[in-house]
Amino acid sequence: MIRVRHLTKDYRLGSNTFRALHDVTFDVETGAMVAIMGQSGSGKTTLMNVLGGLDTPTDGQYWLNGREVGRFDPVTWSHIRNRTIGFVFQNFNLVPTLTAIGNVELPLIYRRVPPRIRRTRAVEVLGAMGLGERLHHYPTQLSGGQQQRVAIARALVGDPPLLLADEPTGNLDVNTGREILSVLQELHQAGRTVVVVTHAPEVAAVCERVLRMQDGRMEAQRFEEDAHELE
Ligand SMILES: Nc1ncnc2c1ncn2[C@@H]1O[C@H](COP(=O)(O)OP(=O)(O)O)[C@@H](O)[C@H]1O
Ligand SMILES: [Mg+2]
Repeated sequence: MIRVRHLTKDYRLGSNTFRALHDVTFDVETGAMVAIMGQSGSGKTTLMNVLGGLDTPTDGQYWLNGREVGRFDPVTWSHIRNRTIGFVFQNFNLVPTLTAIGNVELPLIYRRVPPRIRRTRAVEVLGAMGLGERLHHYPTQLSGGQQQRVAIARALVGDPPLLLADEPTGNLDVNTGREILSVLQELHQAGRTVVVVTHAPEVAAVCERVLRMQDGRMEAQRFEEDAHELE
């Protein structure tokens, strides 16, 4: 699903540049659940933002479902991103002036889905997240765990095959974090590809693979093509 080769990201800070990603190479198979771990500042969010199309790399290649992202024009990429990727953030990133339904409908508005279909679908996904009684609540009227469920519902409403979650349990207490984790596991078991950035060993423990980052680099991965070259 994801193929990344030699990805580099430089941030410009005045006349200096800071290399936040350094020659990052890895794959994520379709249907996998993968954890990305590493200390604060190691480049995890930068990487997730590139994968999710919120940021562009300075160098390197990124293929999503076999198509090289760098070759898309911005409009095509935003369409593909909208249909393919759901993004969940540590701080939920809900729109404070919209209710739970309003937040979850947003991706469908961008896709020009008619209002009634949009509403039905948002109610359905919020119901599946256990928020059937909270449809008309605003983010400030919801607990952290409920807000993150709304955010997950928003990420899922367009039925994307790939879910990217950047420390989704980082702002939640342990028990609420566990609930959100089991939601992610269920989504994975239902066939979605899940990439989750986490500090929590219990999150990593349920993932099939753990990718570790340090100082903008990802620990070496072994690939079939490399194995063939060695033979
Ligand atoms: N917009 C930015 N401008 C400059 N430096 C940044 C920016 N965003 C992140 N960085 C730096 O890049 C490094 C990696 O940050 P980040 O990807 O947020 O790490 P993590 O998510 O692993 O904590 C950090 O040293 C951070 O200070
Ligand atoms: Mg981060």
